[in-house]
Amino acid sequence: MAVNPDTSLPNRHRLVIGATGAGKSQLIRELIPASGVCLLGWDTDEDHPGHHYASRAAYAKAVAAALRSGRPFRLLWAGANDLKTWEWWCGLAFAALDGRRPTELLVEELADVSPTAGKASPAFGELIRRARKYNGGLTLATQRGTEISKTVYTQCAEYWIGRVEATDLRHMERLTALPADRIAGIDNLHYVRKRGADVTFHRLEFHGKRRYLTELTD
Ligand SMILES: Nc1ncnc2c1ncn2[C@@H]1O[C@H](COP(=O)(O)OP(=O)(O)OP(=O)(O)O)[C@@H](O)[C@H]1O
Ligand SMILES: [Mg+2]
Repeated sequence: MAVNPDTSLPNRHRLVIGATGAGKSQLIRELIPASGVCLLGWDTDEDHPGHHYASRAAYAKAVAAALRSGRPFRLLWAGANDLKTWEWWCGLAFAALDGRRPTELLVEELADVSPTAGKASPAFGELIRRARKYNGGLTLATQRGTEISKTVYTQCAEYWIGRVEATDLRHMERLTALPADRIAGIDNLHYVRKRGADVTFHRLEFHGKRRYLTELTD
């Protein structure tokens, strides 16, 4: 069970949408600092740096030890990718939240664990609805915006939209209120960011090993 609720905390939940290769994981590496944060992740393809686990017992033990240590951690689940395991991970992530310490909750490929586009599954629903008050911020990635729960769209404060599949174009037009050709013209590593009524355009660039996220003025 999460502890220390604080209803004044801001909603930091965000959703990154884009087809394979659009640059979601690269963007997330830019959005979440590589060190100094407390991070729990659902990362079954091992796209992110950190310690990965495929055994529930070993993962739960590592999370408990990390919370006791009071130091930053990056602990990612890379085991089974089924709904039962997902619900277990969501429950564990919620229980780990402590209102005093910001915790990043990173979820890759949400569509894989989304049975329908309707209401969220129970533990995921509780996590996304209640994590804010306990200083948890979800960063969710999906290749297909139409296949994930509608609860995600009511709970996220920010959206990053990259190059999307044709089947997602209408949905993204409605979300951003941008014209169809503007959404259809998004290239890999380009993103539209929507925060409330504020819509801005961004690009990720690589220079050697360094990555830069720049805002475009167009
Ligand atoms: N060092 C780099 N220099 C230039 N481009 C890079 C570099 N690393 C990754 N990319 C580009 O990033 C994109 C892949 O990004 P990423 O893996 O984040 O995609 P994704 O949206 O997460 O895909 P998936 O859904 O398959 O996981 C590709 O377009 C690739 O060309
Ligand atoms: Mg990825």
